[in-house]
Amino acid sequence: MGFVDTFKSTLIVKSIENLRQDADASNMKRALTGKDVVLIGTGEIIGAGIFVITGTAAANHAGPAIILSFIISGIICAFAGLCYSEMASVVPVSGSAYTFTYATVGELVAWMIGWDLMLEYLMGAAAVAVGWSSYLVKFLHTCGLESDPTWTSAPVGFTDADGFSTTGAIMNLPAIAISLFCTAILCFGIRQTAWVNHAAVAIKLSVILIFLFATFSYINPENWKPFIPEAHNGKDYGFKGVLRASTMVFFAYIGFDAVSTCAQEVKNPARDMPIGILGSLGLCTVLYILVSMNLTGIAPYESLNSAAPLADAVANLGMTWLRVLVGLGGVAGLSSVILVSLMAQPRIFYTMAHDGLLPAAFGKIHPKWGTPVLPTIVSGVFCAVAAGVLPIDVLGDITSAGTLFAFFLVCLSVTVLRFTRPDLPRPFKVPLGPFIIPILGAASSMGLIVTTGWPTVLRLLIWMALGMIVYVTFSYRHSRLRTGKVPEGLEGVDEKHAAGNEKHVETV
Ligand code: ALA
Repeated sequence: MGFVDTFKSTLIVKSIENLRQDADASNMKRALTGKDVVLIGTGEIIGAGIFVITGTAAANHAGPAIILSFIISGIICAFAGLCYSEMASVVPVSGSAYTFTYATVGELVAWMIGWDLMLEYLMGAAAVAVGWSSYLVKFLHTCGLESDPTWTSAPVGFTDADGFSTTGAIMNLPAIAISLFCTAILCFGIRQTAWVNHAAVAIKLSVILIFLFATFSYINPENWKPFIPEAHNGKDYGFKGVLRASTMVFFAYIGFDAVSTCAQEVKNPARDMPIGILGSLGLCTVLYILVSMNLTGIAPYESLNSAAPLADAVANLGMTWLRVLVGLGGVAGLSSVILVSLMAQPRIFYTMAHDGLLPAAFGKIHPKWGTPVLPTIVSGVFCAVAAGVLPIDVLGDITSAGTLFAFFLVCLSVTVLRFTRPDLPRPFKVPLGPFIIPILGAASSMGLIVTTGWPTVLRLLIWMALGMIVYVTFSYRHSRLRTGKVPEGLEGVDEKHAAGNEKHVETV
């Protein structure tokens, strides 16, 4: 086969019609409403972004204009959110951007997204685990217990000026411990996971609301002046700083895309998926703008360069009770984000294994616990190692760049699909035609990737190049769609997973 034919064959797609039929025939209960999905999304979104990264981004880049950074990032997420909503209404089956693209623009793009999502979920979970560790250390300090930074921070750091450096620390033990703890819960069963998650989401939402009400009367408008600081102390600030901070706080919005994984469990996916995706995004945007207004209003922005800025800012106001509460909210809230991220990744591995794109061992379910134990353990260990050695800013930037790249591909896919499959029913359509919003979404996602800086872009390119090597050497040859064979060792494991594989194979 020549190069052109080989390339064409990587555009093979799963049949949307069969994915839909199999989803309708599946045993998943359609019990969730739009409101439920908004709450699930909100639980997945709020985490280290608002509890940790906001402080550093305001102190080092945007100043009080961090509020603008949240608005800019929120608008970019809205473009992508609209595109995810159209995709979820066209392909209303459980899955993620991986499934959407496999059924629309083809295997190669699906593979790229699947591989890239590891950055979102695993590096994201690791970043949040590092934030969790900071909140734990602060919380213990409030209770009079001191911890040794040698064992609670990253051994390496990266600065624009010096590049790689060592910090003298050995490893971030609490970050490793929480990653492994969440992995253990996930191995034992989905019911335990759901219970822990509901409790954590309730605590973190309550803490955010209490923070907003309790700090409102302490706001000093003088702290908002100047709103956009000029460059000083070797830092840029200005509009450039606002944009840089937008990329950092983009991390805070990550997770709304994961709402699409519930498509098969909602009552009316065509209506409830857009409500869930756009509703949770909207709710979090409002909460983030309010939190950043209060935070920069109660403390001078330069004092926020801390690993636990919300807790420190209220401590400086003398509100010890709120400091304890915010500490608790941080610890509980961040746990739920780690848990959900480490739950999503093994399920993507599982799906990819059943599609023949990853080794069959990733597609097996534990006979007693009913969970995909091997991919769960692999994900947990990968996350624990990254969380143990890397600092939060590096992990956050890698996660954001990875997620933005997935947004870029999903936005473009919406435009492509409008032309390749104009016949498909689209209960939700991105407004203003096939170009304006998807292209704005793709261009702004790429723009934010570029503002993360050259080192992060290089890490993303290396990761994607590694992915291409794995695709060419393994996945292309073993693809179930192309070979027509169930991966060896997975015969009979989950017949339902045949969704879209055997019938109506088409290429775009
Ligand atoms: N949005 C998630 C967080 O802020 C990843 O932790």
